[in-house]
Amino acid sequence: MTRALVLNGPNLGRLGSREPEVYGSADHDDLVAAVSRWADELGIDVEVRQTDDESQLVGWLHEAVDARAHVVLNPAAFTHYSYALRDAAAQVTHAGLTLVEVHISNPYAREEFRHRSVIGPIATGTVAGFGVDSYRLALQAVAARA
Ligand code: DQA
Repeated sequence: MTRALVLNGPNLGRLGSREPEVYGSADHDDLVAAVSRWADELGIDVEVRQTDDESQLVGWLHEAVDARAHVVLNPAAFTHYSYALRDAAAQVTHAGLTLVEVHISNPYAREEFRHRSVIGPIATGTVAGFGVDSYRLALQAVAARA
């Protein structure tokens, strides 16, 4: 069975109460439930995790490589400046696994500092701007390439 880790970075545990006009009203538990349902439908064995900690995310990316799990990654603010995360994410794609960068909002329609992703160039692809549905589209991409 295709395996995937869905990894959510800093402040995404605050979904629901955090800037709902930008990120919507679904909280992180709602996101986990939706992702689990979509993964079931697509035949993907999924695990969803969230952390505010950069080194934790790096460790989870190493784990994905070792376990041969594809990755759906919302790096949140780390998107814009974390070379450590980029180097870890690059190991996923270099191992022949799919890594989809996802964003709930469309960073390109927002502040200038969000227009640069250091993850995008090493990701398999990026889905952004579709709300929580970005994760469904990312899982479809994983399933299509598996
Ligand atoms: C985000 C966009 C980032 O710019 C921001 O820092 C986040 C969430 C998104 O899902 O839209 O925390 O990754």
